[in-house]
Amino acid sequence: MQFDSKERQIRSFVLRKGKMTTGQRKAVEELLPKYAIDPVPDTLDFSSLFGNDNPVWLDIGFGNGESIIHAAQQHPDVNFLGIEVHLPGVGHLLIECEKLGLDNVRIIRNDAVDMMNKHMSDGCLDAVHVYFPDPWHKKRHHKRRIINPDFLALTASKLKQGGRLHYASDWEPYAIEVKELINQTPAFKNSQADGDFVDRPEWRPVTKFERRGQKLDHGSYDLIVHKI
Ligand SMILES: C[S@@+](CC[C@H](N)C(=O)[O-])C[C@H]1O[C@@H](n2cnc3c(N)ncnc32)[C@H](O)[C@@H]1O
Repeated sequence: MQFDSKERQIRSFVLRKGKMTTGQRKAVEELLPKYAIDPVPDTLDFSSLFGNDNPVWLDIGFGNGESIIHAAQQHPDVNFLGIEVHLPGVGHLLIECEKLGLDNVRIIRNDAVDMMNKHMSDGCLDAVHVYFPDPWHKKRHHKRRIINPDFLALTASKLKQGGRLHYASDWEPYAIEVKELINQTPAFKNSQADGDFVDRPEWRPVTKFERRGQKLDHGSYDLIVHKI
């Protein structure tokens, strides 16, 4: 995983060392070559990478991969691309992919924004999922929030017409900000006629971060919008 530090200074993550279990370390050593796209080609060709022309759903910052593991089992006719920088989480997803025989999952360990900007052709994605992105609570850190006008423009360009952007958060102020931002973006149409949040759909399980939010009495806020 290589970052070009000169190009984009403000990133939506801080690389934490993170403790790896023995199983995760073993999975990274043995399974990463099987599931990872590395090196990332100049332009990602999903038909050849997955060996079929099925729709591609991108999960940005998948954490330990719970949402991909759930959806990839429910939707074997969909290709799942997960992009995450946190190595223990990658290890966790690898273990589950192998245990469950999920051959519709591929992983990139890198900055998702860079990968979209530099390695994806326009209109190559059927869905983009951003679940419980780091809320960067402090005002001086808000600039690190992954959802911003540039990210929305980038996502709109990489989605097919009719493609879905699905965002979920437990942090109400961030969720409201994103709702307003998305509703002001002409490239997207909210799935709800009143432009509001939506109930959690079947493909999104309750994840570790959401459970943590629930313990703190946070709500859950899902937004589903489509590219016009
Ligand atoms: C709060 S966690 C949420 C994990 C998961 N989506 C869930 O719902 O449980 C946010 C994750 O996004 C990852 N992340 C943040 N910005 C990213 C980026 N630009 N590219 C890849 N991963 C990113 C972080 O490493 C972190 O694991």
